[in-house]
Amino acid sequence: MIIDILTLFPQMFTAIMNESIVGRAQEKGIIEINPINIRDFSKDKHKRVDDYPYGGGSGMVLMNQPLFDAMELLTRDKENSKIIYLTPKGKTFNQEIAKSLSLEKNLIFICGHYEGIDQRFIDEWVTDEISIGDYVLTGGELPAMVLIDSIVRLVPGVLNKNESFIDESFYSGLLEYPHYTRPKDYKGHCVPEILLSGNHKLINEWRTKESIKITIERRPDLIAKLFQRDDIDIKGKS
Ligand code: ADE
Repeated sequence: MIIDILTLFPQMFTAIMNESIVGRAQEKGIIEINPINIRDFSKDKHKRVDDYPYGGGSGMVLMNQPLFDAMELLTRDKENSKIIYLTPKGKTFNQEIAKSLSLEKNLIFICGHYEGIDQRFIDEWVTDEISIGDYVLTGGELPAMVLIDSIVRLVPGVLNKNESFIDESFYSGLLEYPHYTRPKDYKGHCVPEILLSGNHKLINEWRTKESIKITIERRPDLIAKLFQRDDIDIKGKS
């Protein structure tokens, strides 16, 4: 998977590029991350990339010229690229979107700043507008990193078998059960007996029950969603 990022702050991406699982995926050659500076494409003699909004109002708007020129260079394969603009106006990101984007070959992220980007750029190039939640950040870089981190770990071959995502929150549609490690008794706080029993059938049942309990308590909306899924069988669903 090739991930290109159009940004005014390419150095911000060093935070994820060389570290942890995303860094390892790059080293293994499974993914390639290319932060690209929008300013490098500006034809303005002062390298300006923004201008005042038509119609007045506060804030500046990223100009078309550097963005269009960058895209024309990048999209050798426009038909097969997902071009994602990070914006609070977009569709709210979730695990399902992460899963579907992890199957793509080319992702291009557009990180806006100021008041945003020219609508004609969005109309011409952008395939998906995505938000990471109902709050406003100063730019699209942190949202792009959130998406990249959650997408890359789902790309086949990135996680090793001890890091599988099959069991974790949201994969099954439920929140995850609690985890414990040694020692059995820590300052009088004991690990639930069942986890020490060696009976994997009972342990799995306990974990499922705990998952259901915590999901009902914290995210009843997820339970409602489970009943709408047709890829899993819920007893007494009808
Ligand atoms: N840019 C600024 N705020 C954002 C958000 N919440 N999601 C995505 N992009 C953004």
